[in-house]
Amino acid sequence: MKEHIIPHSYQVSQNDRREKNEHNSFLLWFTGLSGSGKSTIANVVEQELFKLGVSTYTLDGDNIRKGINNDLSFSPEDRTENIRRIAETGNLMIDAGLVVLAAFVSPYKKDRDNIRSIVKDVNFVEIFINTSLKECERRDVKGLYKKARAGEIKNMTGISAPYEAPENPDIEINTELDSVEIAVKKIIDYIAPKLKL
Ligand code: ADX
Repeated sequence: MKEHIIPHSYQVSQNDRREKNEHNSFLLWFTGLSGSGKSTIANVVEQELFKLGVSTYTLDGDNIRKGINNDLSFSPEDRTENIRRIAETGNLMIDAGLVVLAAFVSPYKKDRDNIRSIVKDVNFVEIFINTSLKECERRDVKGLYKKARAGEIKNMTGISAPYEAPENPDIEINTELDSVEIAVKKIIDYIAPKLKL
């Protein structure tokens, strides 16, 4: 059936939308263990961008899995599908002229490489929120690590499922050394030139 689908070309382009917004559009992808601080940092980055007049939207694993992706588990196959759908959604939002923030554990390198190919290298900023398992477990904000250790949660990233750390992220934040303010500054400083048309 795929060969019977012919894309329609619309006259209002991505460039038109970027020019209307007076800034570039791209995807900031936050990866790291559950409880590493991805959502906390993304939240403050979005507030800073909002203050600068940038049009943004944030996609967050815990929220998305309650809605559009509520049919997916934490098996490797379902995580791959989770990330693929978000990459495609992010791509539409880039086309719409937004700076998109996405906070997902996204533990598999091949899935993150797939995002890069879906949205294109130039539109992808990989941000590794590097917090050790030990520290995430110490914080255990949602109590998930305790449950995973007790065998109540299967496929828990870091405990009974792998996390493949990025080897060459665009930005790396070590939350055990850097405060949220420092982390946000690092990210804003990195993307400031990218925002310019
Ligand atoms: S991903 O691996 O597919 O990228 P995603 O970011 O959507 O994961 O969802 C992760 C969130 O789901 C975590 O922050 C945590 O709150 C919750 N969660 C529940 N079960 C698990 C699990 N087995 N592994 C990781 N996170 C889990």
